[in-house]
Amino acid sequence: MYRIAVIPGDGIGPEVVREGLKVLQAAAQRTGVKYELTHFDFGGDRFLRTGEILPDSAVQELRQFDAILLGAVGHPHVQPGILEKGLLLKLRFELDQYINLRPVKLYEGVDCPLKDKGPKDIDFVVVRENTEGIYSGAGGFQYKGTPQEVSTQIHVTTRFGAERCIRYAFDLARKRKAQGYPGKLTLVAKTNVLTYVHDTWWRAFNEVGEKDYPDVQRDYAHVDATCMWMVKNPEWFDVIVTDNQLGDIITDLGAIIQGGLGIAAGGNINPQGVSMFEPIGGSAPKYTGQNVVCPIAAIASAQMMMETLGEEEAARRIEKGIIQALKSGKIKSLAAGQMGMSTSEVGDLIASYAAE
Ligand code: IPM
Ligand code: MN
Repeated sequence: MYRIAVIPGDGIGPEVVREGLKVLQAAAQRTGVKYELTHFDFGGDRFLRTGEILPDSAVQELRQFDAILLGAVGHPHVQPGILEKGLLLKLRFELDQYINLRPVKLYEGVDCPLKDKGPKDIDFVVVRENTEGIYSGAGGFQYKGTPQEVSTQIHVTTRFGAERCIRYAFDLARKRKAQGYPGKLTLVAKTNVLTYVHDTWWRAFNEVGEKDYPDVQRDYAHVDATCMWMVKNPEWFDVIVTDNQLGDIITDLGAIIQGGLGIAAGGNINPQGVSMFEPIGGSAPKYTGQNVVCPIAAIASAQMMMETLGEEEAARRIEKGIIQALKSGKIKSLAAGQMGMSTSEVGDLIASYAAE
C-alpha cells in the first residue's frame, strides 16, 4: 500500500491533478496497485489566508510518504518568488530531490512545431540538476534602492552535487541503451564562459564517464548551441545532463517541441528518498477554473510516479492511455482552450484507454 501525498497547489493545478489521479486509479485498478491519498492545501490561497507557505512540520510529514504528486505553484496575487522558493524549491531542497527528470517525447498524433520532424526524431530525456547552481539562494543586496545598489546571485556548484547528477544520467543512458536507444550522454553547459562552475561539471563528466561508463558515448554542447540543435536536429539527443538553470530553460524548449506545456511532465527525484512529480507548465492563472487546459502533463506525471515506484505495469497502462487517446484524433490540439473537449473529458478518454 503506497502512501501518496497530493499537493494540487495553485491555478489550474487542482484541475489537472484531478485528471492525473483519475487515470492513476484506472491503471491501478487493473494492475492491483494499492495506494492511499492524502491531500495538502499548500499554495497561494492558503498563504494569502494564513500567511503560511510550508511549515517545517509539513516537510517532516511529507518525508513519511512514498511519493508526492504536485499540481502547480504560482499565484497572481503573490509576489513572484515567494511561493516558488517557499514551497516548490523548499521541497526540492529539503527532500534532496537532486534530479529533475524531464522526458521530451513526441507522440504520434501530436502537432510538432518543427518542420519535417516526427516522433522518431524527438525522444530524449533531460536530467536537470535540482538542488544547486544559481538556484542555491546564495547572494543578496547591498545598498538596495540607491544608485549604488549591488545585487549578487551566486551559482554554487559542488563536485558532489554535479557528480551524483552526472552518475544518475550515465546510469539512465546505459539503461536506455539496453532498450535500443543510442546510449549517448550529452553534457550541456557553458564551459567557455562559466570557467569555474562548469569546469567542475566538465571534469566530473569526463572522469566519471571514462572510468565507470566506457560503454556510454559522451558528447558536449554549449547551451546556446543546444537551443539551436534542439530545433534543427533534435534526433541527435538521447540523454542530456545539465545544471539547474540551464535545465530549466532548455526543458521549456523541450516542452514545445513535444507538443507544449500541456504534455510535459517532470519528476523531482531523490533516488534514495521521497520523489515528487509535477507537470512542468505552471499555474496558468488565466485559465483557472475553466476546465480547458490539457491535463496530459499531470497524467504523465502520475505515470512517472508509478515508474519510479517500480510499478512498471501501471505506468505502462497510463502511457498506453495517453498514446491511444492522442492517436484517436479526438483531441484537436493540446493548447489550452483548443482541445475540442474539456480537461475532464480528456481525463475520461485517457482513463478509459488505460483501463482497456
Ligand atoms: C520549473 C519552474 C520552476 C523552476 C519555478 C516555478 C521555480 O519553472 O519547474 O521549471 O524554475 O524550477
Ligand atoms: Mn521552468
